[in-house]
Amino acid sequence: KTFRIAAIAGDGIGKEVMPEGLRVLDAAARRYGIGLDIVEIEWASCDYYAAHGQMMPDDWKQQLQGVDAIFFGAVGWPATVPDHVSLWGSLLKFRREFDQYINLRPVRLFDGVPCPLAGRKPGDIDYLVVRENTEGEYTSLGGIMYEGTDREIVIQESVYSRHGADRVLKYAYELANRSRRKRLTVATKSNGIAISMPWWDKRAEAVGQDYPDVSVDKQHIDILSARFVLQPDRFDVVVASNLFGDILSDLGPATTGTIGLAPSANLNPDRKFPSLFEPVHGSAPDIHGQNIANPVAMIWSAALMLDFLTESQGAGRAAHDAIVQAIEAAIVQGPRTRDLGGQASTTEMGKAIAERVAQG
Ligand code: NAI
Ligand code: MG
Repeated sequence: KTFRIAAIAGDGIGKEVMPEGLRVLDAAARRYGIGLDIVEIEWASCDYYAAHGQMMPDDWKQQLQGVDAIFFGAVGWPATVPDHVSLWGSLLKFRREFDQYINLRPVRLFDGVPCPLAGRKPGDIDYLVVRENTEGEYTSLGGIMYEGTDREIVIQESVYSRHGADRVLKYAYELANRSRRKRLTVATKSNGIAISMPWWDKRAEAVGQDYPDVSVDKQHIDILSARFVLQPDRFDVVVASNLFGDILSDLGPATTGTIGLAPSANLNPDRKFPSLFEPVHGSAPDIHGQNIANPVAMIWSAALMLDFLTESQGAGRAAHDAIVQAIEAAIVQGPRTRDLGGQASTTEMGKAIAERVAQG
């Protein structure tokens, strides 16, 4: 099978890290015999917006028909397009229309990267955050009454469905079941949010019936956040609602050094729609155009994509592992970009990783 991939570079450093992501993808595909058909797409960018007054063409969905995955750089150019317009007009449309209900972020401290947490070494921080990506706290249900008066009232509803909760919990249990320590942490706040969160806890228990080998640890979001900082070695797989997961999936990567390393996957595990793989970072207007951005987050996202497309089997798994090992080696031995304390350009670091992958 040949996988068809839409490569959307977007804006700013998205356009600089994308070629390095594609370079490594190409090296891995050749080395491990994986068929890839890459379609490079210019829209979903603020340049496209400048010419057309919208982020994407009206027929964007048709144009993506038959695509197995989206490889996404970063979108946003606040000097010309407001951030909510660029984000809601592109990335968030993909997440919602393609029912990418899992947001997966690996959090891992690499050898050779200074850790912001005192006394932590590689191995101490190595876990996965699974965020529910389609419902929960992020809705537009609600409103403001008596606006502008001193009787003003605002209501914003959270919406959870059994279908929506169970599918993300099941995904997290599956991951935990395959992980080293078979440990799942469920983020909750059932002591304070007295209707939805006790219900969420119950769903976690119900889904857990099918996974007797997984040990489950339910933690309130406040102390859980503190433990990401104080005891990161406790974690293996962490699952959370949309809002809690949003916060945890920024906090986790922040504890492992530069944002230039962190990858993410927006998954539709049912494979009815394409999934999307992207760095956690944005378009970084402050450093764009200098060829100094760290390409690792983009490259690591390519590894996650190959792993997902091949269902973690055979060549795809091997290619994923080879890319991650090549990243590890580049971080320790160089060439390193400036955010890692080196002098290398984006291109030099990307090429070095691609060469290591090609050698196998
Ligand atoms: P940002 O992630 O673009 O930058 C934050 C800081 O990290 C900057 O100082 C930047 O130079 C640095 N940085 C980011 N990536 C780096 C890399 N690969 N190597 C070295 N340094 C790196 O976030 P910011 O500044 O809040 O947002 C800039 C634009 O990006 C906005 O338009 C925002 O909406 C958009 N954005 C897009 C995202 C996406 O496409 N998924 C995610 C986050 C922000
Ligand atoms: Mg966020």
